[in-house]
Amino acid sequence: MCGIVGAIAARPVAGILLEGLRRLEYRGYDSAGMAVLNQGQIGRLRRIGKVQALADACAQQSLPGHLGIAHTRWATHGKPSEQNAHPHMSGERLAVVHNGIIENFEPLKRELEQQGYVFTSETDTEVVAHLLDRELKTGLDLLAALRKTMEFLEGAFALGVIHADQPEQLLTARKGSPLVIGVGIGENFIASDQLALLPVTDRFMFLEDGDIAQLEAERIQVWDAQGQVAERAISTFEHGQGSAEKGEFRHFMLKEIYEQPRVMQAVLEGRIASGHLLEQAFGSDAGAVFDRVKQVQIVACGTSYHAGLVAKYWIEELVGIPCMVEVASEFRYRPVVLPEDTLLLTLSQSGETADTLAALREVKARVLATLAICNVPGSSLVRESDLSLMTNAGPEIGVASTKAFTSQLVALMLTTIALGRRHGLSADKETALVAALEQLPELFQQLLALDGPIEAMSAHFAEKRHALFLGRNVLYPVAMEGALKLKEISYIHAEAYPAGELKHGPLALVDKEMPVIAVAPRNGMLDKLKANLQEVRARGGELFVFAGCEESIQSQEGVHVIHLPALPPVLDPIAFTLPLQLLSYHVAVLKGTDVDQPRNLAKSVTVE
Ligand code: M6R
Repeated sequence: MCGIVGAIAARPVAGILLEGLRRLEYRGYDSAGMAVLNQGQIGRLRRIGKVQALADACAQQSLPGHLGIAHTRWATHGKPSEQNAHPHMSGERLAVVHNGIIENFEPLKRELEQQGYVFTSETDTEVVAHLLDRELKTGLDLLAALRKTMEFLEGAFALGVIHADQPEQLLTARKGSPLVIGVGIGENFIASDQLALLPVTDRFMFLEDGDIAQLEAERIQVWDAQGQVAERAISTFEHGQGSAEKGEFRHFMLKEIYEQPRVMQAVLEGRIASGHLLEQAFGSDAGAVFDRVKQVQIVACGTSYHAGLVAKYWIEELVGIPCMVEVASEFRYRPVVLPEDTLLLTLSQSGETADTLAALREVKARVLATLAICNVPGSSLVRESDLSLMTNAGPEIGVASTKAFTSQLVALMLTTIALGRRHGLSADKETALVAALEQLPELFQQLLALDGPIEAMSAHFAEKRHALFLGRNVLYPVAMEGALKLKEISYIHAEAYPAGELKHGPLALVDKEMPVIAVAPRNGMLDKLKANLQEVRARGGELFVFAGCEESIQSQEGVHVIHLPALPPVLDPIAFTLPLQLLSYHVAVLKGTDVDQPRNLAKSVTVE
C-alpha cells in the first residue's frame, strides 16, 4: 500500500516523479504529494485525490529541481486529507516519504511532543521526519541520523529522505516494505516497484531488509542492517515496457483479461516439451525437494487464496497427498501443525503481500522447503523462498486480479504434475495433462469471443444489490473468485456457495432480486448442480449459467445460459474464470464505478 518514488538527476525530476506516481497509483490513490529541492529550498505540493490532482497543481506551480521524492497514499493513520498526504517534513529542510506502518508511532509521538515537536498530521510517518531531525541536532550526519532513527522504529517501512543541506544525496531504507533502486546513467531513482521507473531505466537493485542506501547522481552505496557496506546485484527488468501501458483498452482490467491467451503461452513456455513437464523450471534443487514431499500447505490471500483452493482439489485427486489451504492472515497468527516433509507453497501476484510474507517467515524453519508461485521476479516472496516458479503474466495494474489468477492455476497444475510423478501419476496421464494445457492459448482466444453475450447479460445485474454464485467441486473456488471480482469492482454484495449448501441456509435469500450465477461443467457433478438450480428457479430466482456443453442446460424463462467451447475437463477451473471476469467487468462499467482503482482498495497489500 502507498507508492513512493524518488529521483536524483542532472535534469529536472518533477516529471519523472509524476510519471512514477501515475504508475504506482494502483498501490493507493487517496492523496498524492511531492517534495523537490531547488536552490537550497524544499518546495512541496500535496493534493487530496488521485495523482491527476497533483499533476494539475504542478501545472499551476512548477517544482524545479534535481532531487525529489513523491508519494501516492492509501490511508492507514488519519483520513485522506492534504495534511495527512506525504511528503512529511520536520521544519522546512527535511522531507520524508514512507510506505508501511510504524507500529510504535504513538509512544514515539508522545516522546517527540514532550521534546517540543509539533505534529501537523495524524500519520505515523511524521514521527520519522521528527526523529531524523532530532538525531541530526545531536550532530549526526544525515546517513547516521537515518540509521539511528531506524533503531527506534517498529513495524514495516520503505523510506525516501531528502534534506535541503544535502543537495547531492537521496537516502532510502527498507524493512518489511518493498523498495527498488533504479540505476540510471548519471541519475538514480527509488520506487516501490520497477514499473514506476520503466520510462527512465530497466536496471534495478533490490534492497534487503534493514538496508540503507545513499544515492548520488553517479553513485549508489548500500549498507546492510549491521551497518556494513553491502553489494547488491543489479538485474535487468524482464517484461517488455509496453506491457505496463493501457494501449487501446478502456481499462487495464479489460486489457489484462484480453492478454490471457498470450499469458497462457508465457506461463507454459520453457516448462513443457514433448508431452512432459520440464521440472528444472522450478530450479535445480526442486527434484530433490519434490522427492520428499508428503503434504502441501498452501498460504495466500484474496484471489491467490482461491487459486490455492483449486490446487487442493488437483493435488488430492491427482497426487493423492494431503493439501491444506489457508488465508495467510489467519495462518500466521495461530499455532499451526505442520507434519514432517511439508512443502509450504505460497501464492502471490505481487510477492509483497504482508500477510503472505509473514506466514512464510513464521514457518520457514519448520517445513521441508518453501515454494513461491509469483508474478514478480525479485519480489520479497521469491527472494525468501527456497524454490520459485514465475507466472510470467506481465505487469498486472488493475486492482482486480485477472491474468494473475489464471496463470497461477497453470503454475499450480505444473506443480501438481511434478508432485504427481512421485506418487503414481503415469507418464500417459502426464502427457494428457500437458496436452490439455497446450490447448489453453487457443481456448482462451475462443473464450474471449463470449465477450458480447456476456456484456449483454451484464445488464441484468446493474440494478441489483446482491448476487449469489454457485459451483461444485473444483468450480466452487472459481465461484468464490467470481463473487470476489463482482463485489470488488461493482460494489454489488456477492457470496459464493458450494451448490450443495444452498438448502442449508442461503436458499432463504433467493427471490427475483437475487440473481444466481452458476458455473456448470460437464462432469459427474452436473446432475446434482442442475437439481440445485431447480431449487433456485422454484423460488423465483433468476439464473445465469455458464455451462460446459451445449446439451447440458438450455436457456429458458428465467434461465440465461452461456455455453463455453468444448474443453478438456481438467481445464474447467482455468476456463470458467474468464467469463466471470468479463461479467464483473461489464457490470462495473454499467454501474460507472472506477474499474481499475475500486474504492478503499489497493493493488499490493504491503501492510497487515
Ligand atoms: O499480490 P497478491 O496475489 O498476494 O494479492 C493478494 C490479494 O490482495 C489480491 O488477490 C486481491 O484479493 C485482489 N484485489 C483480488 O482481485
